[in-house]
Amino acid sequence: MTIPFSFRLEAPDFIPSYYDTHIKRTLSAMQGQFLDQNAYDRMRAEDDTLLYEVYEIHRPEVPGELSHGISIVHPGRVGAEYAMTKGHFHRVLDTSEIYHCLKGHGFMVMESPEGEWAVEELSPGTVLYVLPCWAHRSVNVGAGEDLVTFFAYPGHAGHDYGTIEARGFRKLVLDRNGAPAIVDNPRWVKAASS
Ligand SMILES: [Fe+2]
Repeated sequence: MTIPFSFRLEAPDFIPSYYDTHIKRTLSAMQGQFLDQNAYDRMRAEDDTLLYEVYEIHRPEVPGELSHGISIVHPGRVGAEYAMTKGHFHRVLDTSEIYHCLKGHGFMVMESPEGEWAVEELSPGTVLYVLPCWAHRSVNVGAGEDLVTFFAYPGHAGHDYGTIEARGFRKLVLDRNGAPAIVDNPRWVKAASS
């Protein structure tokens, strides 16, 4: 669009009235990302379950623009690990992002290239600022309810999924006796430079 525009985001589903792309990520897109590989394999053998969806409003990839959209993480678990997004750094590392939680209950798991970490709880009304350089992943811990967030980030930021695919996040969100617990990822690989 080349003139100012608006769209609607409304309960209960928060599917935007306007968007450019609709991305669906299923279990098969998350090979190797869940801790319990046996549980993952059992689920994959039954179905390629839909884990999350992203509706994106694309803007030109320049610093003055803001790409934005809506992330919907469906409820579920793979073994004890809650449904989550792939997670990413931005390709232009020193760019930030802002999230506004509209629905559900979850956590944003974040970490810096130096291995610092932070986990922030998300519930309707939460506004979360992801600092420049920090990787981020949404995790839905809600029982039977979608986790819906609105996000916006600089137009030139891009995505780097490969670093997280290779190293994992330092912290995982697992079910422990019916409640979410933040635990160390035994497979986390610290960056060589830190
Ligand atoms: Fe991002």
